[in-house]
Amino acid sequence: MSSTQLPFPEGFLWGAATAAYQIEGAAHTGGRQDSIWDVFARVPGAVADGHNGDVACDHYRRYKEDVALMDQLHMKAYRFSTSWARCVPDGVTPNPEGIAFYSRLVDELLAAGITPWLTLYHWDLPQALEDKGGWANRDTAYRFAEYAALMHGVLGDRVRIWTTLNEPWCSAFLGYAAGVHAPGRQDPRAGLAAAHHLLLGHGLAARELRREDPDATLGITLNLTVPDPRDPGSEGDRDAARRIDGQFNRIFLDPLFRGEYPADLMADVAHLGLAGLVQDGDLDTISTPLDLLGVNYYHGESLTKDPVDPVERAGQETTSAPGQADRPVSSPFVAADGVRSVPRGLPVTGMGWEVQPEGLRRLLNRLQAEYTGPAGIPVYITENGAAYDDVPDEAGFVDDQDRLGFFAAHLRAVHDAIEDGVDVRGYLAWSLLDNFEWSFGYHQRFGLVRVDYSTQERIPKASALWYSAVAASNALPA
Ligand code: NOJ
Repeated sequence: MSSTQLPFPEGFLWGAATAAYQIEGAAHTGGRQDSIWDVFARVPGAVADGHNGDVACDHYRRYKEDVALMDQLHMKAYRFSTSWARCVPDGVTPNPEGIAFYSRLVDELLAAGITPWLTLYHWDLPQALEDKGGWANRDTAYRFAEYAALMHGVLGDRVRIWTTLNEPWCSAFLGYAAGVHAPGRQDPRAGLAAAHHLLLGHGLAARELRREDPDATLGITLNLTVPDPRDPGSEGDRDAARRIDGQFNRIFLDPLFRGEYPADLMADVAHLGLAGLVQDGDLDTISTPLDLLGVNYYHGESLTKDPVDPVERAGQETTSAPGQADRPVSSPFVAADGVRSVPRGLPVTGMGWEVQPEGLRRLLNRLQAEYTGPAGIPVYITENGAAYDDVPDEAGFVDDQDRLGFFAAHLRAVHDAIEDGVDVRGYLAWSLLDNFEWSFGYHQRFGLVRVDYSTQERIPKASALWYSAVAASNALPA
């Protein structure tokens, strides 16, 4: 290996990630019924240009081609999710035809020497369960544990890495409080109830899987942020950062790793009247020991409580992410206090999200010091990536130096964190393919591989070729 490379630890797991609703299509095939995203996508205005996941990347039919592509790109692992609405369409009755798809996919991956990494819930709750209250209803947590056991019963002999939830913050708060994700509810109390029931479902599922299969590798994926006060000397800004840290990070990390909700967060939300939500024994269940933490990192944020300056507000609306601008709104108790995130003049991606790789190094160090280190478990980056305005040439090739640079800078941050002593064992790029980016539809492209939606042709971008070389050499060009 040349001295101009930064090697990663031996066995570092290189791969890419996707999610069922974002790539599979075949939404009405093989017994699958509506998930909350099918229904939400039919609401006028909910998704850009009325896009939906009916066809997506047609991965349900093209999975063999996609696995061959992963192999060609030297992926060692593939993180995918199973669609609950395909496997248990009415929320109760298993659908063997739907489950069989994942069995075929797993076999194809194993034949190619690619480690399957299964996520049980990436936001596509069966609509039948939403009709009974969805995640705001405690019963959904028990249905989730049954679904976990069902999937493990079929795939557990071949899938050894199981993660329960992907980004419960988004499911709970974007879905039930802000209403910008399915199921589109706008009720702060329902958002908090959903957060607790998602965690409870995670814990019940983790216990079930552990009981069935003591050797399985179990985890959860959280989207975590790095909240900085805009002015560290301002008490208001420090409090704004504390609140976002509470409602975004610690609301999940503390119950999972410490078996308790943060006291300051509970005080912040006390006015919502949450009596009876957390029942005896819930926190024991939720803090069932895990084998890994999956971290999705996109950016941190600079927070203030200062009254909005109209000039700055105008600037923020043109430069900041729809997602970022939504954050105070989606944080029921924080929004009430006027907390907002302010752009820092950093470069932004197509989503408007600030490119902040040093935030990832800080986040990983914090996790090691406060959560995963004491628990003695490693961290995997289960998502990191960027959307940019890709411009294909005549052959469909995208020379995406911006995305390539994003991956290089973030991998450098991961490498730095490992040198700092953080136990990071793998990196799964978001995403293998361009895909359905939720309420942004197909307009935002996160793929290493371009998808021409008119032909379903897959064309690796420059970033894919670069990433593939990094994976193959287990080292980053310095
Ligand atoms: C996180 C989510 O898990 C994934 O579904 C989404 O596409 C990416 N972030 C990009 O927004």
